[in-house]
Amino acid sequence: MNLKDSIRVIPDFPEQGISFKDITTLLKDGVMYKKAIDELKELIKHLEIDLIAGPEARGFVVGAPLAYALGVGFVPIRKSGKLPYETIELGYNLEYGNDSLAMHTDAIEKGQKVLIADDLLATGGTISTSVNLVRQLGGVVVGAAFLIELDPLKGRDKLTDVEVFSLLSYE
Ligand code: PRP
Repeated sequence: MNLKDSIRVIPDFPEQGISFKDITTLLKDGVMYKKAIDELKELIKHLEIDLIAGPEARGFVVGAPLAYALGVGFVPIRKSGKLPYETIELGYNLEYGNDSLAMHTDAIEKGQKVLIADDLLATGGTISTSVNLVRQLGGVVVGAAFLIELDPLKGRDKLTDVEVFSLLSYE
């Protein structure tokens, strides 16, 4: 099986007209999950990375194993109200709805090279907000890595000053 075959596509979820890419079918298959992380690691192997940051929740299941594989730290970018210490927060628009993301103010040391990782690039709202948070904390964003990119939503266009890496794309 290839990686794309292990992702289940659900029509009209969570709203009419949205074709949801369900990665739970990939994640529950140990061979496929490892293959996805290994391939992502290969894609970004030329980058110098001090830290990986991933947005809640699916960014954790991609970012954390990638950080482990690279032997670097992982920093969670969380939805509002979840982090216990002092935070910075930014609002953003989703493919469906609005939300805000937060990071601990001491999550990143000035000048650290940060790769942002997530399962999916859709409109790019989540990742551009993540990029802005990391930069506000003094981090240098060296790239953004995804399992999946939804080409028609043109998230990449929002990330003109960030190098984008994605394993799979959907029309
Ligand atoms: C999904 C997905 C990405 C984001 C992509 O997360 O995991 O983070 O949307 O969309 P965008 O490029 O249009 O911003 P979601 O906010 O649904 O949260 P979840 O991971 O907690 O389900």
